[in-house]
Amino acid sequence: MPGGQRLVRLGVVGGRRGSNFSSALAHLKDRVQLTAVCDPKEEVRDRWRQNQPDLALFGDWHELLRHGVCDALLIATPMQVHAEQAIAAMRAGCDVLSEVPACLNPQEAEELIKTVERTGRLYMMAENYCYRREHMMVQRMIDAGVFGELTYAEGMYLHDCRGLKFEADGALTWRGQLAHEMPRCNYYPTHSLGPIAQWLALGRQDALESVYSLATPGLCMADYVQRRFGERHPGALVDYWRRGDGASCLLRTRKGRVIHLRTDTSSARPHHMHSHELQGTRGCYRTAAVPDEPPLVWLDAISAEANPSCGAEQADVHGGDLRRFEPLWQYADRFEHPRWRQSGDQARAAGHGGGDFFVLEDFVGAVRGEIANPIDIYDAVAWSSISWLSAESARTERAVLAPDYRRGRAGGQGARPRA
Ligand SMILES: NC(=O)c1ccc[n+]([C@@H]2O[C@H](COP(=O)([O-])OP(=O)(O)OC[C@H]3O[C@@H](n4cnc5c(N)ncnc54)[C@H](O)[C@@H]3O)[C@@H](O)[C@H]2O)c1
Repeated sequence: MPGGQRLVRLGVVGGRRGSNFSSALAHLKDRVQLTAVCDPKEEVRDRWRQNQPDLALFGDWHELLRHGVCDALLIATPMQVHAEQAIAAMRAGCDVLSEVPACLNPQEAEELIKTVERTGRLYMMAENYCYRREHMMVQRMIDAGVFGELTYAEGMYLHDCRGLKFEADGALTWRGQLAHEMPRCNYYPTHSLGPIAQWLALGRQDALESVYSLATPGLCMADYVQRRFGERHPGALVDYWRRGDGASCLLRTRKGRVIHLRTDTSSARPHHMHSHELQGTRGCYRTAAVPDEPPLVWLDAISAEANPSCGAEQADVHGGDLRRFEPLWQYADRFEHPRWRQSGDQARAAGHGGGDFFVLEDFVGAVRGEIANPIDIYDAVAWSSISWLSAESARTERAVLAPDYRRGRAGGQGARPRA
């Protein structure tokens, strides 16, 4: 597409999560226009109708595709149908912004890749965590070399979603179905891995090599069901929850770096949905233990400069370490990402730590040919693949090799949100 002129006609499939993008759509209205929404639930369509009476509304997504009122689709449906809908949309001539994960198994991954390559349509995964303020700032600090050589990263998604797995009468929602049917695995990896993959340039200068995973049985789920729905509910039995409560994975990269990922959406605890750590030879970034507190950083060269008595040399091996983590935001003057400087207010208003705003802005920019696709199909399937690779590892109790989905193909702009 010749750069920059077209107003992108966007359709939303899955009107609940899709509504989270309303604020971003309003800010980007000179570049993208919402033309259609599809949701099988009448009450969801009614809400959209009340707010935007001119929208084309559909109860069936095939109808929306046939209608031809969209150039691009935001797929925000239950994850069981992401791949099927993305593939059909691209075959119908639409560009796709897909909610996470891109797909749930290797067959869907191959079919998605094939469809992108055959149709030439643009496919971007909406991994909004890559665009959080702290994650983009850490990227700039990495680029400036303040962490030195990167050696280790950690990402945890701890979100107690037990309530979202049931209807009021105890029937399973799509989240509950997945917890019942999937094998033990790290079932929601991309919020944790996405930012790490960009920091470590996975698929570019480095790549995933292997995955080892262990998962806990569904004790929290069964205990919750017993207390909420009683012993007669089938979910009162631990084994009903085949996927277990949560999983931890250790990933090794070709450069020998180690990544620790953990997902748990079933355990009794306050949420911590963006817990990350990054270790380099000259410093460390880490989220605070609780999400309301500021993220932290230690930079050998810079933090110690502010207080010379606190250098690594002064940290004796018997526990007398005077070093203290500093708030990351202390370094905002030097390392704040320019996009956050420019559009931070709009991004914050859009929700999800600003990610929903930048994800949509980048998708629209890529569709209009203004920027390269920052999270393309090869990133999308590689990050999503942790779920089935970890399932295989948990089943066999061995590390499994990670496929190289990119196979040397160029992509986006080095997987980094544009500077
Ligand atoms: N990136 C993020 O921060 C983030 C946050 C929340 C949810 N999500 C993802 O967004 C997706 C939707 O999650 P949610 O919380 O909105 O779920 P939800 O269950 O609250 O809503 C799903 C909506 O999709 C509709 N739907 C179901 N099947 C459909 C179909 N075949 N075609 C069209 N619409 C259909 C349902 O009627 C419902 O309104 C999931 O994949 C989830 O993982 C991502």
